Amino acid sequence: MGEREIGIGLLGCGTVGTGVLEILGRNVEAVTGHTGVPIRVRKVLVRDKSKPRRVALNQDILTTSFQDILDDDSIQIVVEVMGGLEPAGEYILGAFRRGKHVVTANKELLAKRGPEIFESSRKHGVMLRFEGSVAGGIPIIKPLEECLAANRIQEVMGIINGTTNYILTKMTSEGRQFEDVLREAQEKGFAEANPSDDIEGRDAAYKLAILASIAFGTEVSPDKVYTEGITKITPLDIEYARELGFVIKLLAIGKEVDGAIEARVHPTFVPARHPLASVNDAFNAIFVRGNAVGDLMFYGRGAGDLPTGSAVVADIIDVANSILSGVPAGAIGPGFVTWNGGRKISDIDSVSTRYYIHLKVIDRPGVLASIARAFGDHEVSLESVIQKGRGQNPVGLVFVTHRVLERNVRAALRVIKDLPVVMDISNVIRVEGEA
Ligand SMILES: NC(=O)c1ccc[n+]([C@@H]2O[C@H](COP(=O)([O-])OP(=O)(O)OC[C@H]3O[C@@H](n4cnc5c(N)ncnc54)[C@H](OP(=O)(O)O)[C@@H]3O)[C@@H](O)[C@H]2O)c1
Repeated sequence: MGEREIGIGLLGCGTVGTGVLEILGRNVEAVTGHTGVPIRVRKVLVRDKSKPRRVALNQDILTTSFQDILDDDSIQIVVEVMGGLEPAGEYILGAFRRGKHVVTANKELLAKRGPEIFESSRKHGVMLRFEGSVAGGIPIIKPLEECLAANRIQEVMGIINGTTNYILTKMTSEGRQFEDVLREAQEKGFAEANPSDDIEGRDAAYKLAILASIAFGTEVSPDKVYTEGITKITPLDIEYARELGFVIKLLAIGKEVDGAIEARVHPTFVPARHPLASVNDAFNAIFVRGNAVGDLMFYGRGAGDLPTGSAVVADIIDVANSILSGVPAGAIGPGFVTWNGGRKISDIDSVSTRYYIHLKVIDRPGVLASIARAFGDHEVSLESVIQKGRGQNPVGLVFVTHRVLERNVRAALRVIKDLPVVMDISNVIRVEGEA
């Protein structure tokens, strides 16, 4: 009680840090309207003080030493928007030890070291907020933790990587190849120079690890998230999807099935009428199913300076208000709080869903029968079959299965791959949503 202002130490002044500073400057009335006292940025940690910045900054507050922030007693909240595992992790733990609260947008660090970091914040009786770490500007952590607290969450399923959604949208609307669209996205600054975390699905897996941990109240580490990226998707797969009434999206899926948790990121056939199917370009959306509220969808900008800054500044306001109202820090706030013991995370073999299977085969009588037999032998029943390009060799053969265990599909495909008439298994993509 009795604080007359709240001091911030900002770690990082890149895309998100700049957004935070811009919002604190531009929306000063809105911010102080919520806190009643000014929020002052006391110090900003960067690597290179001489680098030009997009926001006007008093040079005196720039520092390259984290110790300056630790030693500044007027700083109550450390805002970590520098990224990476270290030194970010060490700085956050250091801030806790000095009794400073932390707001972060660092999904990789929280996904990989969440339990240790939350435990330390509890031990030191300080707050940790991380709304910006998943889906940028979309409020999803607090809704799951607080607004939906009365529900048992059954499913969280979303498009939580803007780069891959942009690439798939362009491939779908313009019929272009993956590599071609990726190159253009890099030229326009929509994709990073090193896009592998995005296109291989790892960025979405980090975010899903955080989301699923909160939604299902158990630790879901990123190495337990089955992860497949979008690099193998071709315009032909997209065309087949369209013909069958689907669009292809990179989905992050967390589900509770028979008491176990499924956590997986992979390209997915989504029915064209599903709300996630119309989420295009770099937009993100998260579909949540709760056992009381039913279906919800959160939609918006999943990255960028101001959208992510919006989430980070809201966290700052939240922490500031708790400091100002004198609420004991350890007693409140989200953060993998009520873990339900270690719940079982299903491996991919035991997932049951539908599958799109695209084969290249030699067009001759009996081909379909031999492939159908291999599926039948493994209890894979077929919902539809399309054959394209009759008379050409090889010819495309596409199957959509009924719901079946992944291990059965894999076993059938091991047999099918060795059939003399099968040239190639071009792609296998999971299908979500009812037929
Ligand atoms: N970009 C987004 O849209 C977005 C969305 C959601 C979450 N996030 C998360 O937010 C975090 C920041 O992302 P960003 O895109 O803003 O990164 P960024 O543009 O690369 O900025 C990083 C900033 O941190 C500083 N920095 C990095 N390592 C440092 C070190 N060892 N010592 C001191 N300063 C250091 C850099 O200093 P210099 O400026 O001197 O190089 C830079 O100002 C990441 O965890 C990211 O995953 C980003």
